[in-house]
Amino acid sequence: MALKDEIAKRRTFGIISHPDAGKTTLTEKLLLFGGAIQTAGAVKSNKIKMHARSDWMEIEKQRGISVATSVMGFNYDGVKINLLDTPGHQDFAEDTYRTLTAVDSVVMVIDCVKGVEIQTEKLMEVCRMRNTPVICFINKLDREGRDPYELLDEIEEKLNINVRPLSWPIGMGKEFKGVYSLYNKNLHLFTASKTKLEGEGISINNLEDEQLEKSLGVNYANQLREDVELIEGVYSEFDVNEYLSGNVAPVFFGSAVNNFGVKELLDSFIKMAPAPIERETEERVIKPDESKFSGFIFKIHANMDPNHRNRIAFIRVCSGKFERGKTYHHVRADKKIRFSNVTAFMAQEKELVDEAWPGDIVGLYDTGNLKIGDTLTEGEKTVYKGIPSFSPEIFKEVINKDAMKTKQLEKGLSQLMEEGVAQLFTYEMGARKVVGTVGALQFEVIQHRLKHEYGASCDFMSMNLYKACWISSKDKKKLDEFVKSKYRHIAQDKDGKLVFMAESKSWLTMVQDNFPEIDFHFTSEF
Ligand code: G4P
Repeated sequence: MALKDEIAKRRTFGIISHPDAGKTTLTEKLLLFGGAIQTAGAVKSNKIKMHARSDWMEIEKQRGISVATSVMGFNYDGVKINLLDTPGHQDFAEDTYRTLTAVDSVVMVIDCVKGVEIQTEKLMEVCRMRNTPVICFINKLDREGRDPYELLDEIEEKLNINVRPLSWPIGMGKEFKGVYSLYNKNLHLFTASKTKLEGEGISINNLEDEQLEKSLGVNYANQLREDVELIEGVYSEFDVNEYLSGNVAPVFFGSAVNNFGVKELLDSFIKMAPAPIERETEERVIKPDESKFSGFIFKIHANMDPNHRNRIAFIRVCSGKFERGKTYHHVRADKKIRFSNVTAFMAQEKELVDEAWPGDIVGLYDTGNLKIGDTLTEGEKTVYKGIPSFSPEIFKEVINKDAMKTKQLEKGLSQLMEEGVAQLFTYEMGARKVVGTVGALQFEVIQHRLKHEYGASCDFMSMNLYKACWISSKDKKKLDEFVKSKYRHIAQDKDGKLVFMAESKSWLTMVQDNFPEIDFHFTSEF
């Protein structure tokens, strides 16, 4: 059963964090343990450090890095790990949300000094939408951080999830001695080292062992005994199924930059994190071990080389075996499609591949046939659920600056939207085009890319809009009536779905009260 074996040994996950908590550093250390890179400093941060003025070289560079680091595959202890990168910058949150639909679990990095930050909270909400299992890694223990108990309480409170520490720090900051694993019942002593991989640790089966005093000194040994007793008393026994169903987040402590606590995290991760799981389509649930291939596109990178209008579509294999050169069914377009140029991502290298298994991500070279959210199958007409659009926060109307380049502008806009850079809404009245984004940075990115990749130029005019709400109703007649009465405020999204463009919160509430038969949704999937 090659398929079952391949599935069992795969773990596809993403690391999420508020910027600066240590996601890039942790990624790098995991790759070091996986033998995928040899030296520290090899992983480039896919972080956009934008200051008052935009630095376009930076954006171009980031786009390049972003392809290289989109997926990092490596092997560890017989397990094939696919780590999907997520942009930390909040303006690219949509990209992160989409990437999270392609993973089976998540590791969340929290800075022990800063605790739970705003981006952590938002990302956690997305994980909750699909009950994605989450492991927390509390980082930077070599700094004077907050009290571990306080941090755990904050995670429970702000992230609305139960926690279960599986390791426990001994001291902190300058006094950081090490971490005791409640899971493996052994002790790792800390030595600050950015290059060395940590060793096996000291095994202690019994906390009364005198070895504890020898290693930690009397005070820390006693403190640890007290802490462990308290934890075992307060928290119920760790149940891996509670973690797998997204109810409990196991917590580990460490210092990524010092390579500390990382191996412990990785060893536990491969044991408990889920192998590729079944996924919902509009019609049915598809299990990974079904013999027929299926998968969905969650990310598109276009125009990396301006001379060739090619793009890479990233597909998550969900069931069966994907084979290069085989003809598949493109469900949305209802046509056959074949890929001869297929890449897999190992560490930071791209390599041509002939086959891929559930959990794997492959890059398909595409000339414009694929969109985010598309499903490929061996013939079945079904579509994977789970790549919703969220209502943007900022809206601007597109003003064409060069009437001679109208075609280029339209093409550029539509391709950038397909890539998921922002969302485009077209008003029913006058076909006015409005771009909606999560962050301000996207408008600059769009203007820049329209100019450099399509030769089109545009301005953006601010619009006073509160939210774009997708609308539906059980009663088609009522929906038609609503559209008619609010015609000036109705637009279509990229897929032609009806959207109500609400100008303010209070007005939206009023409209909702006045039209009880209409359902208003803040995401495109309902
Ligand atoms: P991010 O991807 O989540 O944004 O964070 P990143 O890994 O880039 O880490 C942010 C900063 O935190 C980096 O410092 C990094 O070295 C530091 N850091 C990561 N892990 C630890 C840790 O365990 N302890 C301490 N003390 N610091 C840690 P930087 O000054 O921004 O960058 P660099 O010049 O050190 O690379």
